[in-house]
Amino acid sequence: MNPTLTTLMAHRSIRQFTNQPLTAAEVDALVTAAQHAPTSTFSQQYSIISVTDPAKLAVLSDITGHHWLERAGHYFIMVADQYRNQQLTPTTTTTTANLHSLDKLLAGIFDATIATEAIVTAGESMGLGSTIMGSILNDAQRVVDLLDLPPLTFPILGLAIGHPAEQPEQKPRLPQPLMHFTNGYQRLTADDPSLAAYDRLITDYYHARGSHQRDETFTHHIISELSRDPHQRASILTTLKHQGFLDD
Ligand SMILES: Cc1cc2nc3c(=O)[nH]c(=O)nc-3n(C[C@H](O)[C@H](O)[C@H](O)COP(=O)(O)O)c2cc1C
Repeated sequence: MNPTLTTLMAHRSIRQFTNQPLTAAEVDALVTAAQHAPTSTFSQQYSIISVTDPAKLAVLSDITGHHWLERAGHYFIMVADQYRNQQLTPTTTTTTANLHSLDKLLAGIFDATIATEAIVTAGESMGLGSTIMGSILNDAQRVVDLLDLPPLTFPILGLAIGHPAEQPEQKPRLPQPLMHFTNGYQRLTADDPSLAAYDRLITDYYHARGSHQRDETFTHHIISELSRDPHQRASILTTLKHQGFLDD
């Protein structure tokens, strides 16, 4: 073990924070760490928006349903961004087709997502805790309007970060034979004993943890996640197209 592995393997999402805001130097260190993350084709196709305006944080807490984000030490929105590179590029049929393509949308999503994890890990190495929020996509258009996002940008993730006021139990992950294969995909069989063992482990985790205890296996968790209304976030595609992605 080394300090980086120790940090990575100690990860847990933090949803309760002390009321101590991050300093400007801490925010700068986190953004600098994000900037050093790998970036597809060295195109740096993402931007980071620090949201400090309490009125805007209130709107984000409404969109996500996570009212505790208003008490975080800092809040970032990670944005997939082809707009900046569009400004650098002469408009031709080819550059336009590229900028609006699925390929470039994915590249922006990869860049923004990898940068997000760099902030999470950098923060944890600094004694901070965080929670990534995909739930900003409950109303992507409202986030676009709130932050005045230009065409060819799209909000991917929120990130609440701050000084932890909780130390939740770690959530056990899948046994590696169920998710790490060699030279080809290993199909799951429903009666795999390691799945049953993992279901028991997750049941024990939910029973033993300090808050939000419940009676649930991993299998049941996945079934309930996949039983949500699939149209709940159907507006994501509309907003993506409104922002100029996938619009041909
Ligand atoms: C892409 C992504 C989106 C997430 N969105 C949310 C979210 O909207 N709200 C939330 O409370 N947690 C969110 N999380 C955190 C996960 O719930 C959390 O990582 C998972 O339950 C495992 O727990 P752990 O991070 O404590 O190990 C998100 C995580 C990822 C990677």
